[in-house]
Amino acid sequence: MKRYEGRTKLVLTVNGEQRTVYVDPADTLLWTLRRGLGLTGTKLGCENGDCGACTVQLDGVPVKSCYTLTVDAADREITTIEGLRDTAVQEGFRAENGFQCGYCTPGFVMNAEALLRTHPEANRPVEVDWLQSNLCRCTGYEGIRRALEHARRATGS
Ligand code: FES
Ligand code: FES
Repeated sequence: MKRYEGRTKLVLTVNGEQRTVYVDPADTLLWTLRRGLGLTGTKLGCENGDCGACTVQLDGVPVKSCYTLTVDAADREITTIEGLRDTAVQEGFRAENGFQCGYCTPGFVMNAEALLRTHPEANRPVEVDWLQSNLCRCTGYEGIRRALEHARRATGS
């Protein structure tokens, strides 16, 4: 197809599904997810690696998709907020109103879910350190703290 001339065809694994995309070498994963695949739950913030709104998981590890090239995500398991279902972290945010405008929420959820899954023993200082890569412009950090406490209680961690 003409509009794909010069682009590279990739098959990505996104939320457990094989998705075909056509990308330029410099395309970021953020833009491929949002513009190429319509997965707009991953948010565009600073596009500079500072805010964490664009956080997704690659092989279960949180990464900033604005700082990740799409070509580097090939052959990896990509998980976006659309791919999480009924996790303790999501329930925590819902139950504790862990958001205000909600723009930062998908990024926080993706990052916090990885923390609780990989380091269930993490204490509060570790949690604060882990989540430093995410910013809430509404400054709703108290609700986020309660949401994670709720999730910890639910998982017994
Ligand atoms: S949009 Fe990626 S870190 Fe801000
Ligand atoms: S709830 Fe608005 S940016 Fe965090």
